[in-house]
Amino acid sequence: MSGRIPRQFIDDLLVRVDIVEVIDSHVPLKKMGANYSARCPFHNEKTPSFSVNRNKQFFHCFGCHASGNVISFLMDFNHLTFVEAIEELATLCGVDIPYEKNSHHTEPQQKNKLIDLQQLMQQIATFYSQQLKQHQKKDIAIDYLKGRGIHGETARDFMLGYAPEDWQILSSHFDTQLLCEAGMLAFKNNHYYERFRQRIMFPIRNKRGHVIGFGGRILKDDPKQPKYLNSPETPLFHKGNEVYGLYETLKHNARPTRILVVEGYMDVVTLAQYGVNYAVATLGTSLSATQLQLLFRSSPEIILCFDGDKAGKEAAWRAMDAVFSVINDNRQVRVLLLPVEHDPDSLIRVEGVDAFTQRIEQAQILSDYFLAHFQETLNLGSIEGRAKLVNQAKPYLLKLADCFFKEMILKKLQELSQFDIAPTLKKDSLAASQSTQKPHSPQPKNTRHSLERLTLAMLVQYPKLIKKMQSNPIDWNTLDFSGIGIFKAIVQTIQTHQPDTTAQLLEFYRGEPEDKMLNALAALPILVSEQAVEAEFSGALNQFIVQAKQTRLEKLLAQETAVGLNDEEKTILRQLLLR
Ligand code: UTP
Ligand code: MN
Repeated sequence: MSGRIPRQFIDDLLVRVDIVEVIDSHVPLKKMGANYSARCPFHNEKTPSFSVNRNKQFFHCFGCHASGNVISFLMDFNHLTFVEAIEELATLCGVDIPYEKNSHHTEPQQKNKLIDLQQLMQQIATFYSQQLKQHQKKDIAIDYLKGRGIHGETARDFMLGYAPEDWQILSSHFDTQLLCEAGMLAFKNNHYYERFRQRIMFPIRNKRGHVIGFGGRILKDDPKQPKYLNSPETPLFHKGNEVYGLYETLKHNARPTRILVVEGYMDVVTLAQYGVNYAVATLGTSLSATQLQLLFRSSPEIILCFDGDKAGKEAAWRAMDAVFSVINDNRQVRVLLLPVEHDPDSLIRVEGVDAFTQRIEQAQILSDYFLAHFQETLNLGSIEGRAKLVNQAKPYLLKLADCFFKEMILKKLQELSQFDIAPTLKKDSLAASQSTQKPHSPQPKNTRHSLERLTLAMLVQYPKLIKKMQSNPIDWNTLDFSGIGIFKAIVQTIQTHQPDTTAQLLEFYRGEPEDKMLNALAALPILVSEQAVEAEFSGALNQFIVQAKQTRLEKLLAQETAVGLNDEEKTILRQLLLR
């Protein structure tokens, strides 16, 4: 466990987030009785054995036995470290982590480095925006922005800046080594020089508003130089996971009804200036599933907006890879192709915000766009054309989670192709799952559980049951059963920390030897309804205590005849015989 994030903070986070919501945004869940279920994301399967429980804030797969709380889920699903998972949750809740800077624990090097980099990037953004106001050659930059119709307030909202024509200005203000790690310096001919020179700077901020990278546009178009330069990948900045403008969008409205995805920095900025303040841009790459997931966490509808030229159309179709792997019935995607020769920046300037908003309202729904693509590119009047349709559409269908959308698309495709696609789809998805299935796919074990195991499982799953034990404290000395050590330890943890949920209890044991066992107890099917669990627990507890006392008594009696008892044991024996 990291010594730098306060225990209490993690505990609070687990109360604030809802595991059902978090998992649902990664793996669409269906309500099944008291639980939510899905096909397990941790192993390949055809029928759902992955289950999420809101009260326990716990997930479990009956197939592969993956289990844990929301932190474990994020760690496993997104391949995050513990700290990264906490950061992700903090971002979701919109809170900053109160790192314990002066903690006496040894601090993970990596974490320090990230904080240093983050501070540096923030300072550089401030520095560049100051240059826009102060540098002796600031007029070139200001004139450029004016020429593009960007207002002063817009520049301020987006923290736009100016990187002067200077090869060493950052190095004279900040630490070279750190600048290098932040991707602000490039190395050529044996020395470092500044990556961004004579450019308008667009700070890229993450959801929490921290500057993690930059985009820089040249002031005068020059065929020898790229028009836009982006920060390279750094420990802070992963292009495929971030979008430009999300922080600014959410600052305006934390729950936008829709988010518009455009292609360029300038598009985001100009749209915001015109009042379309819910636009974000991918960073010169095609839209990734991670980026879409990020956006869907903030809004149920994403509108993909592309230029109407050939490149824009191709980019739109390429985005379908990502779209089909994250779409479900709770999420909507629509596609908006602009008139050729226009991007959002130029279009909103000529036709105004109302006409532009109208286009957004009328954007094509996903299924229409998807099907129209085939109708436009294939001759569906011919058998060959219809065969191509089936072949080309199939990979997208295989990506789709089971949902109504899938069924509807499938139905439409069957009509268009005059072919029953469902059976071949089944075959393909089966083949795909079998080829990746482990040789020993886990079998549900049919073990019987001892009474104490069942009692402990109830306690782990409903930690509030501890109240039942407080009114009638257990004298552990008078009991004997296998696993008494762990039972006692868990009871004491619950007594001391009073966790509200299983998730919080599990968090106390992360990385401890008992971790596995706790997870198994949390997942144990106790087959008792929530209403009945109190009564069931009291009953089971009493019953096994009676058994455990009997065992203790028998063993003490045997020991007395064999080797004799010490004083303490004699007292216990007397106590037990008095019953
Ligand atoms: P565009 O070439 O469409 O430029 O690139 P734009 O957004 O209309 O820019 P302006 O209006 O001329 O200023 C779209 C996006 O592609 C990425 C950038 O993210 C840009 O915003 N890009 C473009 C690069 O990363 N590098 C480039 O050289 C060009
Ligand atoms: Mn443009």
